Amino acid sequence: MAFKLQSRSVWRTASQLPLSWSPRVAVQTPQRVRRYATPTNGQQKRTAIVTGSARGIGKAIALRLAQDGYDICVNDIPANKSGAEEVVSEIRGLGRNAFPFMADVSKLQEVQKLVEASVNELGPLNTMVANAGIAQVKALLDLTEEDLKRMFEINVYGVFNCYSTAAKQMIKQGNGGKLLGAASIVAFKPFALLSHYSASKWAVRGMTQAFAMEMAEHKITVNAYAPGIVGTAMWDLIDEELGKKKGAKKGDTIKKYSSELIALGRTSVPEDVSKAVSFLSSPDSDYMTGQTIVIDGGIIFT
Ligand SMILES: NC(=O)c1ccc[n+]([C@@H]2O[C@H](COP(=O)([O-])OP(=O)(O)OC[C@H]3O[C@@H](n4cnc5c(N)ncnc54)[C@H](O)[C@@H]3O)[C@@H](O)[C@H]2O)c1
Repeated sequence: MAFKLQSRSVWRTASQLPLSWSPRVAVQTPQRVRRYATPTNGQQKRTAIVTGSARGIGKAIALRLAQDGYDICVNDIPANKSGAEEVVSEIRGLGRNAFPFMADVSKLQEVQKLVEASVNELGPLNTMVANAGIAQVKALLDLTEEDLKRMFEINVYGVFNCYSTAAKQMIKQGNGGKLLGAASIVAFKPFALLSHYSASKWAVRGMTQAFAMEMAEHKITVNAYAPGIVGTAMWDLIDEELGKKKGAKKGDTIKKYSSELIALGRTSVPEDVSKAVSFLSSPDSDYMTGQTIVIDGGIIFT
């Protein structure tokens, strides 16, 4: 974006100045102001899809965005349908519109149906939160081709399917929008025994940067959030599996990691993450794109 500065008078020496002179402030007036699809005045409604929001971090994001004034499409897989329905009733209890839509994010056609259903039910799509993901604890040399494929199909293809399908819809609408993806601190420094999970989150970070570059001309911003150690079902699994490998009791690994790694000294809760996602979904982050922001209580310092 080009700016024109009126700066000729700024560099005159004191002896050249007329008595009545006072410093002139050069005001930078952007020739073109970009508007993003994040109205906040309560008159124009906003809508978001949150994938994997039947529980955990996704659920906290769906509830927080509803409190922020969004109507929400709550997505998850059929196995978690009842959880999704409960989130929908909680959101309706907050006075916002919501509906559940079961779709597997690793399948492009299902994501296309998800976006279509959200637009039909709630109206134009403003924000896509590609939150769904899986983890697996396994040593690199034990990984099968199937392990690697499944991890990438859900965590990487899933985010690509959500970003690209939502972007096409937003471009059609013509008002820009926001794409958000779930990365992790392991997108900055991998955890041993979570190697293919870590690699998938590096891919989310990379894809977020690449999408940010290509979507900017459509007024679409693209950012990712990188939680640390959040006490959800995903960490129950990691704790149990890492414990088995290291001979630790259930619950001991997450306690040990939290006390030794986290500067703020406590395990994260989903709401720590949803607060940051609220910012990324609001007009306050309109000048941010291509970033992956870390919310981990101080494990990784970027
Ligand atoms: N918990 C953590 O400490 C942590 C840390 C960093 C990043 N993350 C990331 O945050 C996101 C949410 O994690 P969480 O801890 O809430 O996990 P979680 O396992 O509690 O919840 C994930 C949800 O995603 C759903 N899901 C899984 N595969 C799906 C698919 N193919 N299509 C649609 N939905 C699917 C699950 O059914 C589940 O409801 C994930 O991407 C995860 O990798 C979590």
